[in-house]
Amino acid sequence: MSTEVPESAVPSPAGAGESSPAPSRRTFIAATGVVGGSVVAGGVIGGTRLLGPEEAAAADTSPSSRVSLTVNGTRRTVTVDNRTSLLDLLREHFQLTGSKKGCNAGACGACTVLVDGQRVNSCLTLAVRLEDAEVTTIEGLADGDELHPLQQAFVDQDAFQCGYCTPGQIMSGVGCIKEGHTGSPEEIREWMSGNICRCGCYVKIVRAVEQTAGRK
Ligand code: FES
Ligand code: FES
Repeated sequence: MSTEVPESAVPSPAGAGESSPAPSRRTFIAATGVVGGSVVAGGVIGGTRLLGPEEAAAADTSPSSRVSLTVNGTRRTVTVDNRTSLLDLLREHFQLTGSKKGCNAGACGACTVLVDGQRVNSCLTLAVRLEDAEVTTIEGLADGDELHPLQQAFVDQDAFQCGYCTPGQIMSGVGCIKEGHTGSPEEIREWMSGNICRCGCYVKIVRAVEQTAGRK
């Protein structure tokens, strides 16, 4: 009895005359492509499951909250994305663009405002945590046409060049004076050190704070 397999039943080797059908580079890539395709079709890439349409839609809806606060004496109620910073609330929602966005990371002080009388970096403060807070920005400092004494002192001392840091410097200076950290130029420097001035107006800024604190 013959054990010979009919020739038609033997798969053709990739290379004519080769006895071992080792996978070529092309067949290997094609094979892995098929495997990869089936994994993606199953909703997984590299072990991460893809979201279905409904899940993606749900993930797209950012949680938001309603918050009521007083800004420069005006009561405001707004619904915002929970991730909104006070700085973005002021600039993007209330169009109060006096507070500046420098680093947006708490390192420059350009965004300084007062919250319940305390100076804060508004870029690091979540708006939704300010229910019933009293916020004062540079726009709320003057009394009508009459500048706040520290605003006037900045003019008198010529304490700015480009002016980008100035709103934050002034708000921080107001806080510094209120806190009583004005005993000497060194103390003022120390307690204003969170406010960076790229134009290097520090000497005159300190003089302006001194003038307003009544030391000059
Ligand atoms: S923008 Fe807030 S500290 Fe720089
Ligand atoms: S005046 Fe230009 S950064 Fe301070």
